[in-house]
Amino acid sequence: MLVSDTPRPVIRPRRLRTSPAMRRLVAETRLHPADLVLPMFVREGAAEPQPIGSMPGVVQHSLDSLRRAAAEAAEAGVGGVMLFGVPLVRDARGSAGTDPEGILNLAARAVADEVGGAISVQTDLCLDEFTDHGHCGVLDELGRVDNDATLEVYREMALAQAASGADVLGLSGMMDGQTAAVRDALDEAGFVDTAVMAYSAKYASAYYGPFRDAVESALEGDRRTYQLDPGNRREGLREALLDIAEGADAVMVKPAGSYLDVLADVAAASEVPVWAYQVSGEYAMIEAAAMHGWIDRERAVHESVVAIKRAGADTILTYWALELANRLRKGD
Ligand code: PBG
Repeated sequence: MLVSDTPRPVIRPRRLRTSPAMRRLVAETRLHPADLVLPMFVREGAAEPQPIGSMPGVVQHSLDSLRRAAAEAAEAGVGGVMLFGVPLVRDARGSAGTDPEGILNLAARAVADEVGGAISVQTDLCLDEFTDHGHCGVLDELGRVDNDATLEVYREMALAQAASGADVLGLSGMMDGQTAAVRDALDEAGFVDTAVMAYSAKYASAYYGPFRDAVESALEGDRRTYQLDPGNRREGLREALLDIAEGADAVMVKPAGSYLDVLADVAAASEVPVWAYQVSGEYAMIEAAAMHGWIDRERAVHESVVAIKRAGADTILTYWALELANRLRKGD
């Protein structure tokens, strides 16, 4: 009999991985449909949903198809829908964003009417979809984004969105003081129950590329004077703490997958729920690789979202929210 001198391991972590039942028992991170928020686009004047070339499987909705898709998301137990509007006409001040009859406000009303109460109705509060220059704020006479003039427009947008039935306003413009400004406007007008979710640590990212197709963005240049430098970790935490101090009901880190360290920092320090946005480029990369047969799509989708939750996100915006919710319900 061969007796090895090598001691046998006493501690065997693999014991917990022996069977699917054991792995399920000890799983540290589980996704639930209610953790997920589905971002959706709605295009003014669209009679039919329009595909988005760089985001296979995602569409620009018509108001009718948006209603149906929101009902489907609610049925699947998805936690919320985040609405983005694509207007037909843009101007320097982004007037379609403050117009109560603007496409985003119409969409919020339609969705609130269809599924309000069953799913949280969320709207993007930012000017980039509505300005003819594509920036997230209004410009001064030298063409620079004018922070404080933009806050005035955000206040107006907030009131229009709250009046349209949005439960949660997603402040994605990265202007200084936007959370306090919007909270003040809402409270003054009596919308004390409308929640503010601040895109606090929003990085100037190449991963927003497909989104800009989705909203037909007019932007030339970049957003580096207001969005964060991808190398800055401490500054992401600082922005989140500022938004919490200004009264944010939830804070967000965006993009998600490349910023899990920032997400973990914010999750450790936050006293409000922490959200993360798995953005359009993160979606497109996995879809593209899967189309080539280079990656197992379903596993990659699940792994990418679980990793975001593991890092500390309570809630995740993902274009796969509906698909994942349906899979989770089936017990995959
Ligand atoms: C701004 C906004 C952007 C995204 C969400 N809100 C674009 C940007 O900052 O350029 C990107 C989302 C994505 O890429 O999926 N309204």
